[in-house]
Formats: sequence, C-alpha cells, structure tokens
Amino acid sequence: MTYRIAAIVGSLRRESFNRQLAGALAKLAPADFEFRQVRIDDLPLYDQDDDSHQAEPVRRMKTEIAESQGLLFITPEYNRSIPGVLKNAIDHASRPYGQSVWAGKPAAMVGISVGAIGTAVAQQHLRGVLGYLDVITLGQPEIYLQAKTGFFDANGGIANEDTKQFLQKFMDRYVEWVKEHSDPVANR
Ligand SMILES: Cc1cc2nc3c(=O)[nH]c(=O)nc-3n(C[C@H](O)[C@H](O)[C@H](O)COP(=O)(O)O)c2cc1C
Repeated sequence: MTYRIAAIVGSLRRESFNRQLAGALAKLAPADFEFRQVRIDDLPLYDQDDDSHQAEPVRRMKTEIAESQGLLFITPEYNRSIPGVLKNAIDHASRPYGQSVWAGKPAAMVGISVGAIGTAVAQQHLRGVLGYLDVITLGQPEIYLQAKTGFFDANGGIANEDTKQFLQKFMDRYVEWVKEHSDPVANR
C-alpha cells in the first residue's frame, strides 16, 4: 500500500525555507510514502458562524487530511509561536464540533528558521495544540534547523551531508511511527 502523508507548511511565502524543507524531506522518504502539500493559502479566516456551511477550500483540506495516513507539520516560528495561517488551518479542520479530522492521525513536526533556536518555541506550542486534538505526535528526534545560505542544494535536497544523515534518521523514525499508528481500516 501507499502511505499518503499530508504535509502542512506553516508559511505562505513564495521562497519559504519551510516549503523547501518539505520538498527536501519528501526526497528522503521511501517509495511507498507519498507526500502531498496541503493548500492553506485560500482558506478564509475561521469564523464559527460558518461551521454549518464550511467553504469549499476548507472541505477540500479536510478531505485531504482525512484521507491521509499521516501528517507532517513543517513550520516557521512567528513571534515565538506558530504562524496564524497554520493555526487558522488547524482550527478549520477541527470543526464543526465532533467532526474534527485530526484525531488519531500519526504526526511529526519539523521547522527551519533564521533564528538560532530553529522554531523550538513554535513547536512546543504546536505540540500543545495537537495534543488537545488527539493527534499522535512523535516525540523524538526533535528537528530544529537554522536557515543559512547554501542549506539546500541545486536540486532542492539538503546540501550538508551530516544534516542530510540526521534528517534521514528522522525520516526513518517517522516512517516507522506512521506505520505503527496509522488506522488499519483507513489503510486498506
Ligand atoms: C511575523 C514574523 C515573526 C517572526 N518571528 C520569529 C521568531 O519568533 N523566531 C524566529 O526564529 N524567527 C522569526 N521570524 C523569522 C523567520 O524565521 C523567517 O522569516 C523565516 O524565513 C520564516 O520561514 P519561511 O522561510 O518558511 O517563510 C519571524 C518572521 C516573521 C515574518
């Protein structure tokens, strides 16, 4: 079977380091893992009044998440937390009450930032949100990366061999995690 992974990038920026990182990580995955970046830039601002008639982009995103066997969050840190666009997407897919698509999904998170602590605080906030939503989040290894010139190679891979090996270990553990925790019924 193929494991479909919903990759949720917490930046809308065209040249986003985190979107580039999502692409580089997908290259480290085995052939039976298919990463699809979930579009969040056309979601409206979450408004509870719309719960009974969610907008088409919200329904599309919820379907993509529901049909995935795993989640990968790749996010920058904004002002020591997660970007509003990511929280907006999470809130949309958690509603209406009782119809969240997050619960029980195996997940991991990574992040790259220009700051030296490499999204550590944002990831701690994200862990809290995902815990409440019953997402099964990988604890280790933690991935805090600092964006520097030449981080990515010309093909969109990881340029530095040590960093690449470190991220390969993360990917191998993530693959195990998804296989251990993904829903066997949904996987048929
Ligand atoms: C509104 C805003 C707040 C930011 N706050 C932080 C921060 O708290 N910590 C940090 O390391 N970098 C912070 N940055 C810098 C980001 O790391 C940098 O913009 C990075 O390129 C964002 O990721 P992206 O390239 O995927 O868009 C902030 C940037 C913006 C625009």
